[in-house]
Order: sequence, then structure tokens, then C-alpha cells
Amino acid sequence: MQQPAKQKDSRTAQSILETKCSKCHTVQVIDAAISAHKDMAKIQKVMEGKGASLSASEREVLGIFWKQKNPLQVNK
Ligand code: HEC
Repeated sequence: MQQPAKQKDSRTAQSILETKCSKCHTVQVIDAAISAHKDMAKIQKVMEGKGASLSASEREVLGIFWKQKNPLQVNK
């Protein structure tokens, strides 16, 4: 609430998650990986190796993950 720009990033991230990223697996998979502090850059490479084509904005989402602890729990 106090930082609208950040909030917008989170909303964007979440909508990308729900549309793009949940095509191949659930959002829970992502949430769990964030909680476990997994390396998103590495995960991205693994996924691309398995045929995931991530657009620039989707990659940005992965970057946003690093800046925020958990983008999926912003709407408190
Ligand atoms: C084309 C299918 C596909 C799409 C689209 C996709 N993924 Fe994945 N993702 C996978 C596969 C396959 C795995 C399992 C990789 C493995 O074998 O460990 C995975 C696993 C993951 C994991 C867990 C990795 C781990 O080691 O726990 C995360 C986090 C993740 N994806 C994030 C994302 C995000 C964020 C997006 C959207 C930007 C996304 N994925 C879109 C295929 C996809």
C-alpha cells in the first residue's frame, strides 16, 4: 500500500504467474521454490531446457522474485 510502484510490480508478477507460469506447473511449485530460496536463474535455465519459452517480461518476473520475499503474499 505504501509503495504503489512495488505493488504494481507484484500485481504484474502475480498475473503472469497465474496465466503463463501455471501452464506447466502449479503456482505452489513456484511459491515453494521461493520459500526454499532456490536459485531462480538456474531454475529458468532448467525450464528453458525443458521447452519453457519465457518472454522478457516473464524473465523480469523471475527478477522481481529476487527483490521481494514472496510476491504471492502481497495482498494483505
Ligand atoms: C513450458 C513449461 C513451463 C513454463 C511455461 C514454466 N515452467 Fe516452471 N517448470 C517447468 C518444469 C518442467 C519444471 C520442473 C523442472 C524440474 O524437473 O525440476 C518447472 C519448475 C519450476 C520451478 C521449481 C524449480 C525447483 O527446482 O523447485 C519454479 C520456481 C518455476 N518452474 C518457476 C516458473 C515461473 C516463475 C514461470 C513463469 C515465468 C514458469 N516456471 C513457467 C516448466 C515450465
